[in-house]
Amino acid sequence: AEVRGSSLAPAFLCGVCLFSLSLHGFSPGTSVSSHIPKNMHGSHQQSSFSRWQWNMPSAVGKSLRAAAVLSVAVLSFLVCLLLGSVRRLGSGHGDLDEELASLRSALSHQLAQRHQEILPLLPPGRDKEPFSTWDSNLWAELTRGSSSNGTPLGCGALRDMQPLEVLGSGYTKLVVKVTLAGGEPVALKMVNEHGIDMGKCVEGFKDPHGCRQLVSYKLSKEVVLLHRLRHPNIIKLRGHCAGDEGGRVTVILEQGDPLQMLHLLQSPWEDRFRVCLDLVRLLHFLSRSPLGSVALLDFQPRQFVMVSGELKLTDLDDASAADTPCGRHADCSLQFPHRNFTLTCSARGVCEGLNEKMNIYNAYRYFFTYLLPHQAPPGLTHLVARIMNVTGELKANINETLDAFEHILHLYQSGLHLDKLPSSVLRATTSGNTDYHCWPSYSQQGCVLSVHSAREAAHICNSHSQCTSFTLTGQKTWTGQSSLPLTFIYLNIWPLVYVKHSTAG
Ligand SMILES: Nc1ncnc2c1ncn2[C@@H]1O[C@H](COP(=O)(O)OP(=O)(O)O)[C@@H](O)[C@H]1O
Ligand SMILES: [Mg+2]
Repeated sequence: AEVRGSSLAPAFLCGVCLFSLSLHGFSPGTSVSSHIPKNMHGSHQQSSFSRWQWNMPSAVGKSLRAAAVLSVAVLSFLVCLLLGSVRRLGSGHGDLDEELASLRSALSHQLAQRHQEILPLLPPGRDKEPFSTWDSNLWAELTRGSSSNGTPLGCGALRDMQPLEVLGSGYTKLVVKVTLAGGEPVALKMVNEHGIDMGKCVEGFKDPHGCRQLVSYKLSKEVVLLHRLRHPNIIKLRGHCAGDEGGRVTVILEQGDPLQMLHLLQSPWEDRFRVCLDLVRLLHFLSRSPLGSVALLDFQPRQFVMVSGELKLTDLDDASAADTPCGRHADCSLQFPHRNFTLTCSARGVCEGLNEKMNIYNAYRYFFTYLLPHQAPPGLTHLVARIMNVTGELKANINETLDAFEHILHLYQSGLHLDKLPSSVLRATTSGNTDYHCWPSYSQQGCVLSVHSAREAAHICNSHSQCTSFTLTGQKTWTGQSSLPLTFIYLNIWPLVYVKHSTAG
């Protein structure tokens, strides 16, 4: 609207000027001499217009003259308008070209920046020649022998795939489940065309192709990080396809199930503890990774998936191994919505353990708070409370935190936390009639819990007023991988049951 307004105004003024001049008898077609005062020009009557007018009756002459002047004025207004538009059109094109050129250069600058961010992450000794997001040589080099699960997959693997469902999407990426030609299900990560990253970029730079390339750098960074940071709690990179000219990158990953916090909140303590333990093992690895201490800048449950009950980090594009430089302690502040911490500025001028501490506090606020204390076994609550305290106050480093978790696991698996349990009187019988539900239970049919021994089962049964008997099964939970396996209690399912002494009469 601004451009249109500013272009009409001069044309209008130009037309008004000419019109007013013509009213005074000065129009572009009028001879200059007709305006020269008589007393200065003896030959005034010799001008053609005066001569023509001189031969006409005076009334007709006046109206004809007025009509001629008016039409000349209107014509000149239109000519001015046209000239103005043509000039404006020219200058408008110029402005637009200039704007587009500056956007292009800003986008190129960002592309170069993203490129630079990836270079330090490449394996040492690798050729760090400039590469583009679709440089297949780089990726071939990078992923050579990288997959512990067979040979790395490339574009060829995607040829006869069957798309199954969308697994998830975020600001940057879209993740779909597909089955490869051989029947193996995998997760494919690609640029989310409708994501916030693409949307903002196209809005700012007006260049969908360039933006796709820019956003693809995040996928490229993720591939490099997945390649360098291999750990049981990081999603497995199966390969990638980065062959096409459009800068598209498709990452092929092992397929998991998005973490459902709500579902997890309703699971047995043992499963919730496992998620927290997996997370701590992951953070321990990240604190001393091949890239140095890595911080997860976008630390949220949605960046994780579950694969066969194991927690795995899947979103790595916001991982950073950078140190935070400082001049004094006050430069090392860690700010969270409800807590601030000030860390130490080391003699080398970097904030000591900042990445590690940031991860620990995020683990505390997004995971431990919700998953750990609720329904912890009585013999372990004091240890759980201690973990909550030291992680919530950032009083322990990741080594100490991992030790505390492994200690709990050891007590839990060995049954040592049950030492103080009073012994319950049990007797075995061949039938039982108890049928009740409890929460959280491993099964919808009855009350199914995990216990270390018949003694613990009896203790739990005694504490549930509805429980009159229980059955031990041979099934094992994840902690049952140890030498002292835990077993499920199945109530009223197996023929041989233990019956509560008081109810046995
Ligand atoms: N390997 C996978 N298996 C199953 N779901 C996945 C996998 N990887 C990612 N997802 C799902 O896709 C979502 C988006 O992936 P993510 O890498 O986090 O993208 P963004 O960077 O856009 O946040 C995740 O929140 C997760 O739910
Ligand atoms: Mg994400």
